[in-house]
Amino acid sequence: MSVQAIAWSPSGAVRIIDQRALPDARIERDLESADAVADAIRTLQLRGAPLIGIAAAMGLVAGTRELRAAPRDAFLARLDRLVALLAATRPTAVNLRWALDRMSRAAQEVAGAGGEGTAIWERLRAVATAIWEEDRAMCRRIGEAGLPLVPDGTTVLTHCNAGALATGGIGTALAPIYLAHDAGRRVQVFVDETRPVLQGSRLTAWELTQAGIACTVIADAVAGSLMRQAAVDVVIVGADRIAANGDFANKIGTYPLAVLAWHHGVPFYCAAPSSTIDAALPDGDGIPIEQRAPEEVKTIAGRAVAPAAAAAFNPAFDVTPARYVTGYVTDCGLVKPPFGADP
Ligand code: MRU
Repeated sequence: MSVQAIAWSPSGAVRIIDQRALPDARIERDLESADAVADAIRTLQLRGAPLIGIAAAMGLVAGTRELRAAPRDAFLARLDRLVALLAATRPTAVNLRWALDRMSRAAQEVAGAGGEGTAIWERLRAVATAIWEEDRAMCRRIGEAGLPLVPDGTTVLTHCNAGALATGGIGTALAPIYLAHDAGRRVQVFVDETRPVLQGSRLTAWELTQAGIACTVIADAVAGSLMRQAAVDVVIVGADRIAANGDFANKIGTYPLAVLAWHHGVPFYCAAPSSTIDAALPDGDGIPIEQRAPEEVKTIAGRAVAPAAAAAFNPAFDVTPARYVTGYVTDCGLVKPPFGADP
């Protein structure tokens, strides 16, 4: 059983695992408002493209609980403000905007049919729960589509965290690994530590070891020499946004990994649900790349690792051109671009 990154609390708050504390401590937090969810997304208490979409949808529900008795117009005006607040938290993962648009459309539909606050809120809760449940099902289908990539004895290399901690289910890049392990296949996973925030060593290694899957954490710079020694059978990574031509944004460091894999003839797969496809973008040049605080680079666990006077450049994501990608593992199977709204 993999970990569950998000749930409703009994009182209707959004219950999350505070991922900043992992792997030292597993701390659950109940987020009572949309502001608390927005803050949690911004500060990486929860992260990963599908999970931030799910959390934002659930945050809208938590944030409008008190408005159930409100007239329709007041409800919708507040909802619009909360949608704008959540949409502004992180720019790169399209899942966030996708989930918020779906919630807004649902509210408009109910209001258009004459529904008042209670009816709109109930619909929002149903749609947020559906977004979560659909993501869980998409993760499983991604795992099934990717299972042939992980025969018995495979060594996989992955980057960042595209597992249960990043989704509503068993993850995207990690889903085929979980299913291969469940099927009794022996799998080894090299986990890039993923500087600067260490999602690989802190999160991926944590959830894999929780599930009893053998993994080895490596500094990001090690991947090339492992490939040169033919010690990696396949690379599988997640995505934050996939353009129509297959270019995709993922955690910084994915692009050099793809170039290394291509150079060494190692198959390189991108695993993602349909909600990560931005069919309106022709290619990766238009993907907005989040810039994060220099302190993430200049410190590790609160300790300075660079002089205070040095500047730091900290893009959170990079774009990998489609030509380096062997295939896309999606809820619609193993596919190739171009992509429409569904792969
Ligand atoms: O900054 P993060 O931790 O949100 O970045 C996450 C990633 O880049 C993941 O690989 C991506 O969101 C896919 S998660 C299934």
